[in-house]
Amino acid sequence: MKHNRSSLAHQARYALRNPQKIAPHLRRLARDTWLRLSTRDHVAYYRAVMKSDTARSPEGAVGSHSHERWLALGRMQFDYLLEHGLKPEFRMLEIGCGNLRAGHLFIDYLHTGNYYGIDISPDILIAAQGTLVEHGLRDKLPHLTPVRDLRLAFLPDEHFDVVHAHSVFSHSPLSVIEECFAHVGRVMRPDGWFDFTFDRTEGKEHHVLREDFYYRTETLVALANRYGLDARFMDDWEKLPHKQSKIRITRRA
Ligand SMILES: C[S@@+](CC[C@H](N)C(=O)[O-])C[C@H]1O[C@@H](n2cnc3c(N)ncnc32)[C@H](O)[C@@H]1O
Repeated sequence: MKHNRSSLAHQARYALRNPQKIAPHLRRLARDTWLRLSTRDHVAYYRAVMKSDTARSPEGAVGSHSHERWLALGRMQFDYLLEHGLKPEFRMLEIGCGNLRAGHLFIDYLHTGNYYGIDISPDILIAAQGTLVEHGLRDKLPHLTPVRDLRLAFLPDEHFDVVHAHSVFSHSPLSVIEECFAHVGRVMRPDGWFDFTFDRTEGKEHHVLREDFYYRTETLVALANRYGLDARFMDDWEKLPHKQSKIRITRRA
């Protein structure tokens, strides 16, 4: 986690070790250049990335390259929250819900209507509707809503017991994370919590294309503190077979 993946030296070493990955990376680089020139901001850029990835495979678009991995990654998120006190009567907001990799388990577990999933990608939300049908979850009436930003302006005050964002800030510049921190406290119940994962570096913060962002823990903790939120690094998540780290945000009393 000390590597700077954006440095030329790292990329050259990586290419020598993984020659089969050179062509896919060049294709991503070409797409990145085109999308950066043709979109107005990061959200529009990433929405276009999701459109292109979802057209190929919705499960691949959320980062799972087999159905078994998709199921396992959803289960890991669900089991973790269950061990941390998730209750069926809780109201949950999932930011960047994708095609409901974990969402289908949350929806099944929570009382009808208590799951709220938002995402910047209409394409992945349409795939999410397919997941609902496949898993027989129509009757649970989850809310699935496309968003343009993370101001959460259309959601009520102090409504959610749990807010969850898995593998979303790993694709977000700091301005997007800051926008979320500036507003998420308003929609959380006073005793609620907000768990998010991020790609952690212990070296220099950097990003690869505009797709993958690496942050130091202290940067995100300090940013949360600036908006009256407490932030705690979740050590027990580190024991799980997952490359990202997790932080829990709570409202300061
Ligand atoms: C890697 S996928 C993970 C999806 C889901 N959380 C999961 O674990 O399966 C990231 C998702 O976050 C969404 N996303 C990225 N940036 C976002 C933002 N600023 N606001 C809301 N959703 C966002 C993407 O469209 C995508 O569906």
